[in-house]
Amino acid sequence: MTILDGKALSAKVKSEVKQEAIRLKNSGIQPALAVILVGEDKASQTYVNSKEKACNACEIRSIMHRLPENTSENELLALIDVLNLDDSIDGILVQLPLPKHISEQKVIKSISPFKDVDGFHAINTGNLVSGIDGFVPCTPLGIMRMFSEYGIDLTGKLACVIGRSNIVGKPMINLLLNANATVIATHSKTKDLSLLTKQADILVVAIGKPHFLTSDMVKDGAVVIDVGINRLDNGTLVGDVDFENVKEKCSFITPVPGGVGPMTIAMLLNNTIKSAQNRLNKAK
Ligand code: GUN
Repeated sequence: MTILDGKALSAKVKSEVKQEAIRLKNSGIQPALAVILVGEDKASQTYVNSKEKACNACEIRSIMHRLPENTSENELLALIDVLNLDDSIDGILVQLPLPKHISEQKVIKSISPFKDVDGFHAINTGNLVSGIDGFVPCTPLGIMRMFSEYGIDLTGKLACVIGRSNIVGKPMINLLLNANATVIATHSKTKDLSLLTKQADILVVAIGKPHFLTSDMVKDGAVVIDVGINRLDNGTLVGDVDFENVKEKCSFITPVPGGVGPMTIAMLLNNTIKSAQNRLNKAK
């Protein structure tokens, strides 16, 4: 059994990002990411702080907008408009979830697809489904990078995705399909889930329930990817996979923490660099 080391791989991706950021800077393009956080959600504050720190460490300029909870939808849309039109900014990220009085759909739609480094805009979703180049959501993209880095071939494999969120499950399903896997899309309403998971060569679990995937649901030799980040009442951080028992059956497995999580931010930086490269190519 091999543990997929997301911490080490994310450090490698970040060092590539930093090198490319310096090269772009020397060509007159300073890669820049604008991050917007609305409100005081503690988890979101932590994520946004990590994104800012990662940018700083990789020579990417970060422009932070921390807005109060009572920011109106129109104020937020107006700020996004300004950032859309600012040629010095390559990426725009609005941290989700947003306060209830703001429509996430409207906000996502308002971000220029060319600066949508989260890959959430319908244009980028469509590009992904059609196999056209565009921005791909960071968590599933990071998982694909793990597969390639560890030489895990997906062609003809039976992959089972548990969870159908727009951020992870749905893009993951499409990335696996584009990589020639046969994909089962399962979710909280799926009947007889373990009959499906037991057949899978690759399992991606993104359902947000601690220790949801148990060893009886896993085939011998499977690759198990745990996207879950759940905080138990005693404060410990656990994934959606019962790691200690499931690991015995796996060929590869991601730990929590130190697996998928660190890859997400690394791929956000990677997407920002990709956008800056597009800016340089346009300027040529
Ligand atoms: N909230 C949880 N994950 C994400 C993410 O990947 N991007 C944004 N913008 N918000 C999130």
